[in-house]
Amino acid sequence: TTTKVWRMADEHAEESIAEAAELLRRGELVAFPTETVYGLGADARSSEAVAGIFQAKGRPSDNPLIVHIANISQLDELVLPYSTLAKQLMGQLWPGPLTLVLPVQPGAVSPLVTAGLSTVGVRMPSHPVALRLLAAAGCPVAAPSANRSGRPSPTLAEHVAEDLSGRISGIVDGGATGIGLESTVIELTGEQALRILRPGGVTVEQLREAAPQAEIDAPADAASAAEELAAPRSPGMKYTHYAPKGELSIVQGSSAAERIAYMQEQVAQAANAGLKAGVLVFDEQAAAMQGGSAFVLTYGSGQQLEQAAHRLYAALRQFDAEGVQRIWAEGCEPDGIGAALMNRLLKAAGHRTHQV
Ligand code: TXA
Ligand code: MG
Repeated sequence: TTTKVWRMADEHAEESIAEAAELLRRGELVAFPTETVYGLGADARSSEAVAGIFQAKGRPSDNPLIVHIANISQLDELVLPYSTLAKQLMGQLWPGPLTLVLPVQPGAVSPLVTAGLSTVGVRMPSHPVALRLLAAAGCPVAAPSANRSGRPSPTLAEHVAEDLSGRISGIVDGGATGIGLESTVIELTGEQALRILRPGGVTVEQLREAAPQAEIDAPADAASAAEELAAPRSPGMKYTHYAPKGELSIVQGSSAAERIAYMQEQVAQAANAGLKAGVLVFDEQAAAMQGGSAFVLTYGSGQQLEQAAHRLYAALRQFDAEGVQRIWAEGCEPDGIGAALMNRLLKAAGHRTHQV
């Protein structure tokens, strides 16, 4: 397959979206930008199309897919009647980076989408290109992140091409995605209760604000990580994810001076062993790490975790491109978007963490 790339920056954007939508309707695979990461889309009703997603990504078939819609009216055909809490959250946070796991309407989507579960994850993305494409396609679109399984999720069309060129029909290039981490996946556990299955673009604080009366079960990250491996809440959470090729370790601790000293020592040791080392640090620590033998990438300021979220996956891919074999990355407090950032870092590091 030759993979067509449509650039949204040029003057043919409208025709390009129509063409991409037509391919989706014909059962082909098309990657597109969302406000979180790029998704790899297929008509959710077609088992043949959806099977193509698993094949192109090399994704285990027991990991269900999120279904994307452009209009709330599409929801009635997909799911069984849902609670007022669900309605309230959709009203407040859609379109946006929130996926709700709801009871599926039997027969509405291919069983491959739900991996045989009786529920389906649904989200209405807020990216204008995604919304236009989904509206033009007219069908519910199953779309996991558009990376090869196990690699960092794509935040640029170039990342999608790197992983999937030749395996899919097209890529809608809308430039860099905004948030840079995937959506928050939630499950409704009662009339006024919900559980976060995967932290993401919508923070716990935003969920509390949208539904102040609701009880929110938000697993504290480090503690839940081990537990998660034993009994995954969400099927996808048990797999190694987002991992760069180099061995990644997280460096935690309240003293910046001690974090720097530890990383400098580790980098020197790696260099002695003939290994190419890299560090991912906040701007505040960048100067101290430069001039040594490490390849240095920065998150942006430690006061701006949104920027760190936006840059994480691209940084992990850049270490791969540079052939970096050992990586030390600073961690952060799990507040706001920091919860999702730490969740992804922990997975990318296989939970390897060093406390200084
Ligand atoms: O931001 C996002 O969510 C991106 C963009 C493209 O929308 N998509 C994405 O999809 O991250 P994916 O397939 O990489 O992750 C979907 C997650 C997995 O952890 C999966 O196990 C979980 O959602 N999930 C999907 N359906 C589910 C269900 N019925 N019950 C529990 N978890 C479910
Ligand atoms: Mg993914």
